[in-house]
Amino acid sequence: MYYPDWPIGHPKQGTAIDCICVPERKAKRERDRCNKLLEAAQIPNHYAGSSLNTLDVSHPSVKTLKQIALEYVIGWLCELGHDVEEGYEQFCDKKPTLWLAIFGLYGNGKTRVATAITRGFAGHGMAARYAYVPDLLDELRKAQFESTYDDYGNKSGSRFYEVMEELKQVDVLVLDDLGVEKESPWADEQLDKILDYRYRNASWTVLTTNMEITQLAPRIADRIRDREVCTVVINDAPSYRPQNKRPG
Ligand SMILES: Nc1ncnc2c1ncn2[C@@H]1O[C@H](COP(=O)(O)OP(=O)(O)OP(=O)(O)O)[C@@H](O)[C@H]1O
Ligand SMILES: [Mg+2]
Repeated sequence: MYYPDWPIGHPKQGTAIDCICVPERKAKRERDRCNKLLEAAQIPNHYAGSSLNTLDVSHPSVKTLKQIALEYVIGWLCELGHDVEEGYEQFCDKKPTLWLAIFGLYGNGKTRVATAITRGFAGHGMAARYAYVPDLLDELRKAQFESTYDDYGNKSGSRFYEVMEELKQVDVLVLDDLGVEKESPWADEQLDKILDYRYRNASWTVLTTNMEITQLAPRIADRIRDREVCTVVINDAPSYRPQNKRPG
């Protein structure tokens, strides 16, 4: 802040204004914050550049998936008062549901879309976390045997509790490949606790799975079936992974 040499009689005489460089500094701070949030989102390297814009949408169900994913991210960003990039205002029209569940076959873009959604939120300053469910369960199993420490090196709690709290509280949670690991009762219980908490607290949650809804844990399936809370999209496009041709 500084006090400009306002001319005598100027209505702003005696008032201070921001120096010219303040907006630039603010913009840099916001950029740095978004970069930190993008790092914290834990998007895997293979999908580091994944974007909804570069999806091949020649298959109708991928086209629908892209439309719904854009309505989800842009719709919520608009609803929360964020500025969205030019040309995306059309996706602000209707208020999306809080949850999005993507069902689909192998290799047809679930992780790609899930990571693009994660990036969309984190890039606009929201705390988002992408997690591949089998890895997340491994992290939780390991965390049961770890403690947390305060600044003085004294034991302050359990790492398991810390990870569970993060998964419950993060603004946007993206759980990729639900059901793929044939969960144990313990794993089912942890996923149920996280998802039940997020359901009760109306938190943004994205799920993907290769399973049929009837193969998922019944309590999770029931929340996904709640049309007021969750939009379901089924992608039946074939795999986009380059396939080896069979010899001969
Ligand atoms: N519509 C698309 N256009 C272009 N590339 C795509 C499209 N869908 C998927 N891909 C690419 O195909 C590969 C497989 O996609 P992805 O990993 O998202 O599939 P998936 O549905 O998560 O598969 P899985 O069920 O095995 O986890 C990735 O490299 C991804 O970038
Ligand atoms: Mg995947």
